[in-house]
Amino acid sequence: MTQVHFPAGFTWGAATSSYQIEGAAQADGKGESIWDRFTHTPGMIEDGSTGDEACDHYHRWREDIALMKELGLHAYRFSIAWPRILPQGWGQVNQAGLDFYSRLVDTLLEQGIEPFVTLYHWDLPQALQERGGWPERSTAQAFLEYADIVSRHLGDRVKHWITHNEPWCAGMLGYQTGRHAPGIQDWYAALAAGHHLLLSHGWAVPVLRQNSPASEVGITLNFTPAMPAAPSPADFAAYRHFDGAFNRWFIDPLYGRHYPADIVADYVAAGHLPAHGLDFVQTGDMEAIATPTDFLGVNYYTREVVRSTTIPESENQPRTVFPAPADEQTDMGWEIYPEGLYELLARLHFAYRPGTIYVTENGVSFDDQPDAEGRVRDQRRQRYLRDHFVAAQRAITAGVPLAGYFVWSLLDNFEWDRGYTQHFGIIWVDYATQQRIPKDSARWYSQVIAANAVEVSDAG
Ligand code: FCB
Repeated sequence: MTQVHFPAGFTWGAATSSYQIEGAAQADGKGESIWDRFTHTPGMIEDGSTGDEACDHYHRWREDIALMKELGLHAYRFSIAWPRILPQGWGQVNQAGLDFYSRLVDTLLEQGIEPFVTLYHWDLPQALQERGGWPERSTAQAFLEYADIVSRHLGDRVKHWITHNEPWCAGMLGYQTGRHAPGIQDWYAALAAGHHLLLSHGWAVPVLRQNSPASEVGITLNFTPAMPAAPSPADFAAYRHFDGAFNRWFIDPLYGRHYPADIVADYVAAGHLPAHGLDFVQTGDMEAIATPTDFLGVNYYTREVVRSTTIPESENQPRTVFPAPADEQTDMGWEIYPEGLYELLARLHFAYRPGTIYVTENGVSFDDQPDAEGRVRDQRRQRYLRDHFVAAQRAITAGVPLAGYFVWSLLDNFEWDRGYTQHFGIIWVDYATQQRIPKDSARWYSQVIAANAVEVSDAG
């Protein structure tokens, strides 16, 4: 056995998001979100389910914090449901919503668990969608008001703020493919949405700093490193487009490089943007988006091997994905590729130089159920996490300023358009009884945390 050690002070945590775990969709004055509306629209969710109850975390948060404590987590990343705070998206504040998160934060701190708060993990107030949602600039203004209210109330205690989770998903899945709420299929709207998400981030950074002076502020992006299937010019072009549209489109503007010109040209050529390009960008926007942050949050799950031959109609992008062999796929159909985390972290460090990086999500969907003894023996998850931890440690050794790692997810939960068909938790949840059982991977993770090291057998 070899022990792979992490630096002293490394932050180990787990992550969730409001709509995926809270339930209590109408409790205590909460307004409707686009996910409430979307899940109640027939045909949108694979198993026809909703987040109405989910893990009932809104009522069971004390028990969930006790589980975190038992596992020895240093930190917990969760998101705030905007419509609990501002049921109409702006204007009238719902005190009960603020009180819920305030109690959550206090109790976490009492237990020695550091809260990492995400302001937006996709549950936009439906009232704002009625006014156009993220394709409208006024939604960025509303986000600023929301960020101001939340940070005024929690800013004395919360020391880590994440403005947005995965603007690619919020913009493209929400407004282009329509697989996520609000289910719109419009390229131009999706690109405008992405811009207003980034803009609202840039506007919020100084407000968060002002209301929460001793805190660190960042944003979380999702990255899928890619490679061409073959060393042909056509496959390389498909790779370049995928990498640009998925990865560079969001990080380049955040680090002062504007939107990638090659992808703007691709979008104009495809008719997704007008000939004059990004006409929703106003003077000063790019400077606001590039406001320096304290850290970059990185979500990593898989890579894609891209080739140029066919154009899947649903996505209208010049690529197809090479599926990995079945035994290297997760229940999501995603390839298990730990090397990709190393490559990604190295690339981000060398190309963009964020001061600090956190892996804000990494984890895997496998459907392991309790056995006769009530134990969930999820060896594949344990292996997945171990291999990704080792890749992260290698990146640290190479000089990447990685300060912490959040496993997705603390609990089995509502996986968006896939409903409850996917199981990402290190804690198993019985949705009928709301019983929780820490899986073997959770027990193993708590040993990793205690040792601040991973054991790797020399045989591999
Ligand atoms: C990410 C999301 C998270 C979860 C994981 C599996 O894209 O941020 O909410 O759904 O994927």
